[in-house]
Amino acid sequence: MAKKLFIKSYGCQMNVYDAARMADVLAPMGYENVDAPDDADLVILNTCHIREKAAEKIYSELGRLRGLRAERMMAGGRAVTIAVGGCVAQAEGDEIIRRAPQVDLVFGPQTYHRLPDMLRGLGAGGARVETDFPVEAKFDHLPPAAAQGPSAFLTVQEGCDKFCAFCVVPYTRGAEFSRPLVAVTAEARLLVEGGAREITLLGQNVNAWHGAEGGLAALLDALAGIDGLERLRYTTSHPRDMDDALIRAHGENPKLMPCLHLPVQSGSDEILARMNRGHTADDYRRIVDRLRRVRPDIALSSDFIVGHPGETEADFEATLALVAETGFAQAYSFKYSPRPGTPAAEMDAQLPEAVKAERLARLQAALGASQLAFNRAFVGRDVKVLLDRRARHPAQLGGRSPHMQAVHVSCGGAERAASLFGRVATVHIAAAHGNSLAGRIAAAAEATGPLRQASA
Ligand code: SAH
Ligand code: SF4
Ligand code: F3S
Repeated sequence: MAKKLFIKSYGCQMNVYDAARMADVLAPMGYENVDAPDDADLVILNTCHIREKAAEKIYSELGRLRGLRAERMMAGGRAVTIAVGGCVAQAEGDEIIRRAPQVDLVFGPQTYHRLPDMLRGLGAGGARVETDFPVEAKFDHLPPAAAQGPSAFLTVQEGCDKFCAFCVVPYTRGAEFSRPLVAVTAEARLLVEGGAREITLLGQNVNAWHGAEGGLAALLDALAGIDGLERLRYTTSHPRDMDDALIRAHGENPKLMPCLHLPVQSGSDEILARMNRGHTADDYRRIVDRLRRVRPDIALSSDFIVGHPGETEADFEATLALVAETGFAQAYSFKYSPRPGTPAAEMDAQLPEAVKAERLARLQAALGASQLAFNRAFVGRDVKVLLDRRARHPAQLGGRSPHMQAVHVSCGGAERAASLFGRVATVHIAAAHGNSLAGRIAAAAEATGPLRQASA
């Protein structure tokens, strides 16, 4: 009988990719994904350590799981194995079992290829914590990737050597590592055979990829040659690794979508230096100018931290000025959260919560206005949308524009919607909101990209 696997992922897109790969690793043991923990045999929390709130969430979830296990025992139901993976697991290790003894297994982001052995070992008194960075590379031990649907993630680079003062990622994911070009193209082909029209290359510093001569631009070129693949994206980039070839690729690679997530964190050079970012606000402006020269319609997105130790009102205003000047299509912004073991947590001039909250509200108002202005410019236009999401209403689908906007699409009937799912269609935009667009399939539009049979 099939065993049921429930994985809950927190944090970044790499965790979403890792969850898919964990399922690939566990499939030969008879595990099948389910979308609720209730009758699962194995529950994995795939955790994020980036901010305190994200990390603390795990313990309330573990509390609920303890309740679930107790209920099942009372009812004479099946046992459930509880595992914690991801970045909290890497950072806290056996501390997790001390705080939450109901946890059976703790494993890090670089050890999940060993899950079958770890699970088999549990009954035999094997280790309950596996967070050492193994000498063998995880990617060499993973089975071929299963289909992910029309829009797929593919990790090409992992880890970080940049050590921004505020950030835990270099400690939780380890040193920078690039997968070789042949491994990436092989996985991309599998995803496309499984129905992917769009692939987003993932890495903590994806543009530091050095798996072949020519860097990420060369990899994007190689992937653009895959028939049936229509769209390429990559995330997350670091300003320091935006090389000339990659900037040029935005003007030359026909499948590379016109958007870029390029975190800046702050508009103040003093704060950028304290953050150990290795770039100034003007370095960032220059990159944006050059990108817009080769691709005038490029949509820029970014990450910001407010209230980093030492941030003055003038520093914060420099961030607001950069936002006003650049015009972001989309952005994430966070209150600085001190993380154990990072240099910024030890700095003086930590700011009070109220100052952080007030600055975050002002920044988000500015970013929200910038985003709405960007979206409004699309009303009345026809845009190509990859229809990769089913909606509650059977005559509607959800998808993404080339600029990464979420688009709600009326397809003019449930049958039409079913036949359009997984394709790129032309959509006439009728309305714009802060976080999405809405429209209908353009009258004369033909969907492109024949659907292929998913490979077994
Ligand atoms: N590798 C990417 C993103 C890493 S984490 C990069 O270099 O930008 C995603 C975002 O979380 C970061 O860009 C940053 O804005 C935010 N972040 C990281 N550590 C944080 C902290 N201690 N407090 C608040 N936000 C943080
Ligand atoms: Fe964290 Fe900086 Fe590395 Fe991004 S570049 S993962 S923010 S240390
Ligand atoms: Fe979080 Fe780890 Fe990603 S800390 S943001 S899950 S790399």
